[in-house]
This record gives sequence, structure tokens and C-alpha cells, in this order.
Amino acid sequence: MVQNWTPNSWRQKPIQQVPDFPDMAALAAAEAQLATYPPLVFAGEARRLKSQLASVSEGKGFLLQGGDCAESFAEHGADTIRDFFRAFLQMAVVLTFGAQQPVVKIGRIAGQFAKPRSSNIEKQGDIELPSYRGDIINGIEFNEKARIPDPERQIMAYRQSAATLNLLRAFAMGGYANLENVHQWMLGFVKESPQAERYRKLANRISETMDFMKAIGITSENHPSLRETDFFTSHEALLLGYEQALTRVDSTSGDWYATSGHMIWIGDRTRQADHAHIEYCRGIKNPLGLKCGPSLTADGLIELIDLLNPQNEAGRLTLICRFGHDKVADHLPRLIRAVEKEGRKVVWSCDPMHGNTITLNNYKTRPFERILSEVESFFQIHRAEGTHPGGIHIEMTGNDVTECTGGARALSGADLADRYHTHCDPRLNADQALELAFLLAERMKGGRDEKRMVVNG
Ligand code: TRP
Ligand code: MN
Repeated sequence: MVQNWTPNSWRQKPIQQVPDFPDMAALAAAEAQLATYPPLVFAGEARRLKSQLASVSEGKGFLLQGGDCAESFAEHGADTIRDFFRAFLQMAVVLTFGAQQPVVKIGRIAGQFAKPRSSNIEKQGDIELPSYRGDIINGIEFNEKARIPDPERQIMAYRQSAATLNLLRAFAMGGYANLENVHQWMLGFVKESPQAERYRKLANRISETMDFMKAIGITSENHPSLRETDFFTSHEALLLGYEQALTRVDSTSGDWYATSGHMIWIGDRTRQADHAHIEYCRGIKNPLGLKCGPSLTADGLIELIDLLNPQNEAGRLTLICRFGHDKVADHLPRLIRAVEKEGRKVVWSCDPMHGNTITLNNYKTRPFERILSEVESFFQIHRAEGTHPGGIHIEMTGNDVTECTGGARALSGADLADRYHTHCDPRLNADQALELAFLLAERMKGGRDEKRMVVNG
């Protein structure tokens, strides 16, 4: 059992990134209401994810985690969810088939609403307003009314998460994710992209394999794993009042679980060892993510691992590294060495988005070549250290947006204005996400062939 912990013990600790709610009674009422609502996910599902992540931590498998930077109330529709899910499935199938490794699938979805901000205020011209903190807190429109934190938004976020999760479960288990549909996952606009030919070839090989298996009696009717997939949800556990309201005891184990999503993570700005976010997360049994940026020292990391995973349970902790393409070589090796020296079981994941944000023509953007470069370095460093490059964490959408520059279609700074829709950070579009998946599959395959050569030689 976790010592001296309750779902609200975080309230005694210093805390970062708290919205300025004008009406504390209304906040308490919204939280009390949420506490009566059904859980969004079940403890058994979180445990299943943890065991899949445990395999990844042992070098068997790869974690694919991705979705919006921030989900929005305005863009909550079936088409957006479906397009995201199929872009994600395409990536997953490229990785599974291309690299011949199981892929653990986690969306940044169905709860990814709260955003940490570097400044409490946003200035436009002479006007200063509170910063936008995500749809679960306030509105993105630049006017005074929209920017006032509104507790009712937590109820809306809960309901949107429930509806999104319902559709995702239907897609994952109800036939849409059937490998027999591998050709149909191609999105309209990806059909004309440079990735299309590559994807079609891979899909043909899968279809051929499926035909062969059918001939020998293995079909999606008698083998559910061909037609179903485990798809999990995750978000940053930033708004702790919301998280606390959805924290429940699992009746089978007696343990506390966050039921707002299967995995939750702690941001790089809120990971102070003696502060509220670490306090909340240490007491729940879900798999956790910890964002690791350039300011994290090796000792600091071990201290956090002691707090978050004192039993050294495999699958409990995923380290999501976000350094920047030009900084990853300075920071990742020392963290890997500290973790290895102490014998800690972790999943190493690479977030190549957050350390590579620049401003171009007044747009926040991310050059695709820098994203690829950070991923390449991440793989190289793990090969050199003899550790497993276990996964990737990306901001992506199934929509045909123009938010990150580069990629095979060579989006330029001038193109950004065309379809720049994100509520927060720039996302890979489906095309760029697929291109990244092909590159990853090659790198993962390379690593495996190398290992085989060592074994044979
Ligand atoms: N169930 C397996 C898995 O999730 C195979 C599978 C079914 C699959 N549908 C998929 C893999 C879609 C990737 C994408 O790995
Ligand atoms: Mn982001």
C-alpha cells in the first residue's frame, strides 16, 4: 500500500499551473458532481495496459502514443475521431508488419483537455487576458468572458470523453480495426500522397498473408486478434481536482485508480518531487508517463522514480523524453546510464515534438526534419547504450492540416496559413505521421537484424 496517501493528499502540497477560478463554490460543486459519475475506464483495462508496457520495457514490443495536443469542444465529431483512428491504425500496422513487433496503442484522446502554459497572461496589442488553458478550463477566443475559468467545462469534458471513448471502443472491437480492412484505412487525401504507394504495397502483403491464413483455416471469425485491437487512452493529469473526482477504488484489488483514462502522464513543468502532481500520481495504480526535458538531472530522475515506482514494477513508468533535435545527445545518455546503473525498469519513449517548436511567419510550427532527426538520435543513442528504444509520443491528427513544415509534400512556411487548426501546438498531419511510421519501422527492423547478426556471429 502507498504510505500516507489519499486521493486528496495533493491538496496539502505546493502546486503549479492552477487556474484562477473566480467561484470556488461552483468549482467544488462541479467536482462533487463528477465524483458521482461512472468511471470512464476500468482498473482491469489499466492493468492490461500495464502488462503490455511491461513487455515493452523488456524489449519486446513498441509503444505508439499519439493524438491532439489539445482536444477541443468545437471539433468534437465522429469524422474527426474516425480520421484520427484510421491514421493511427495505419501507423500501427506499418510498425507491426514492418518491424514485426507487437505495438501497444495509446491515444492522446478522450481526456486530453488541460494545457500547462508558460505564461499566465496572453497579450494581443494593448490587451492582456488570462492565457487559454484548454477547453476543460476556459475558452480559446480572445475576449474577457471566454478566458474566465468555468468549472462547468469539466462536466462537458467528461461527457465528451465518454462519447469519444464509446466510439473508439466500437472502432477497436466492432470490426473497423479488422486487418481485412487494411486497404480501406487509407484516407482520401493520403491516396495522392507520396506515402500511398508504400502503404498500398504493405497492405497488399498483409492481404496476401491473410488469404494464406484463411486457406489453412485461420480467419478473423475464429481468431478475434485479427479483427480486434486493444486501444488505450491517455492524457496529461494536470487538472488535479478533475482527476481526484474520477479516482476510484477497484473492488477486485482494493487499489486506487484514476478512471479518467488508462494512462496519465506528468508534464515537464509539474514534476517537482515535493509538489502536488507527483503526490497525486504516486498513489494511483495506473501506468504513468513522466515527461523528461533538458532540466531533469540524473539524480532528479532517480528521485522521481523512487516516488512513482518504489517497487520497480515493470510497465508502471514510461519516460517520455522531449529534449529537442540538437539537445537529445547531451541529455539522453546520462539519464539512460543512471537508470541502467540503478536497475530501474522503464519504457523509454521519444517525444520528438515538444523540443522542436519554432515560430515561423507568426505561426508556432515544427520542422518535420527536426522531428525525424530527434527520433533518429533517440534510436542511435539507445543502440549505443544497449537499451531498448521503446516507443514514440507524438502530436498528430487524421485531418489534412498544415501545421508542421516539411515532409514528403514539403510544406513551407507560406503553406502554414492554409489549414492551421490546432488549439495549441502544431500536429503532424496523417501524411507526415505515416511517413514517420515508415521511418520508425525501418529503424526498428535495423535494430533487430543487428541483434540477430550478433547472435549468429
Ligand atoms: N490484434 C492485433 C494487434 O492489435 C492485430 C491487429 C488487428 C492490428 N487489427 C489491427 C494491428 C490494426 C494493427 C492495426 O496488434
Ligand atoms: Mn503539446
